[in-house]
Amino acid sequence: MRPSRDSYDVLVIGGGIIGLVTAWRAAQRGLRTAVADPEPGGGAARVAAGMLAAVTELSYGEQTLLDLNVASARRYPSFAAELAEAGGGDIGYRRCGTLAVALDADDRAHLRELHTFQRSLGLESEWLTGRECRRLEPMLAPGVRGGLRVDGDHQVDPRRLAKALLRAAEAAGAVFHRSAAARVEVVRDRARGAVLDDGTVLAAGQTVLAAGSRSGTVDGLPEHVLPPVRPVKGQVVRLRMPAPHGRQAAFLSRTVRAVVRGSHVYLVPRENGELVVGATSEELGWDTTVTAGGVYELLRDAHELVPGITELPLTETLAGLRPGSPDNAPLLGRTALPGLSLATGHHRNGVLLTPVTGDIMAELLTTGEVPEQARPFSPARFRPGRPVSRQEQPV
Ligand code: GLY
Repeated sequence: MRPSRDSYDVLVIGGGIIGLVTAWRAAQRGLRTAVADPEPGGGAARVAAGMLAAVTELSYGEQTLLDLNVASARRYPSFAAELAEAGGGDIGYRRCGTLAVALDADDRAHLRELHTFQRSLGLESEWLTGRECRRLEPMLAPGVRGGLRVDGDHQVDPRRLAKALLRAAEAAGAVFHRSAAARVEVVRDRARGAVLDDGTVLAAGQTVLAAGSRSGTVDGLPEHVLPPVRPVKGQVVRLRMPAPHGRQAAFLSRTVRAVVRGSHVYLVPRENGELVVGATSEELGWDTTVTAGGVYELLRDAHELVPGITELPLTETLAGLRPGSPDNAPLLGRTALPGLSLATGHHRNGVLLTPVTGDIMAELLTTGEVPEQARPFSPARFRPGRPVSRQEQPV
């Protein structure tokens, strides 16, 4: 029997939030779009806490990425509204703000420096004493020495976001093939779609590789086109906060975070009572085991910030894989192989960068050009010494 052969303008390989937003935006622009993924809406978003932390996760040397992060954060209110209108429902976008706190003198010195850096870049961030931090969040440990209040760093619920994108993409006409891409089809030096694990052959004018941490492992592509993306394991635990009754304050009203013994720990309280505590950052290949050590470290560090967490029911432990890239920034745009584009490598910022990634990829797929703000994120930046072909050149 001949395998079925469907034909599309765009085939997106990977149905995580980045693949879904690409498919949604492409379908909205009238492109016949398909997504290949055995479990669309799964992936790293099932684990992610959903912080939109452009300012509090700022790192030295990542100012270019900051611009993209801030641009995407600004789009969230209208993006959430548009998704709701498109039948995606509520994605749990919450303008809750974030408090980054220091537990000792070294942390405080580090946060002070971060504050100076943030202010030098024109970012909104306010220094608070330990007492002021506790006035905002009474559950904080008495030992908190000071902190940064960033009201512009919000949150969204990544599981709801994935569900909403799936519904919106379907409503816009995207077709879902619930099977993984076995290999990209390359014919006469051009990507022309993919063959799926179930034997389906999908022909496409443009193929987008958006397979998260697996993007570098897809068969059929020449070595130099494969993105340098690696899995970075993150373990997360979920707790349940008590419902506030009467005049009792919420357990936590905003995201609280710190760096404890060199590791980031954050507590993200949702309106539905869920408290997400994350996340480890481990270079362990494809391992997604939840370990006693990982959970212990998260709870130990979170307990130093908010001692009352030990009273809360533990509802879930999970590990996922961030798609890490060599410079922690995404790869967005054409590759050296005609017909193949990338939307991957979002590392710690996949949820935050979802709105802007959708817009960038839609522009690329409909006009052949990426917007100005996406040019620094061209996949070509990881091929030093290679002549950049006209195809992949930033336009
Ligand atoms: N952005 C949070 C994390 O990747 O853990």
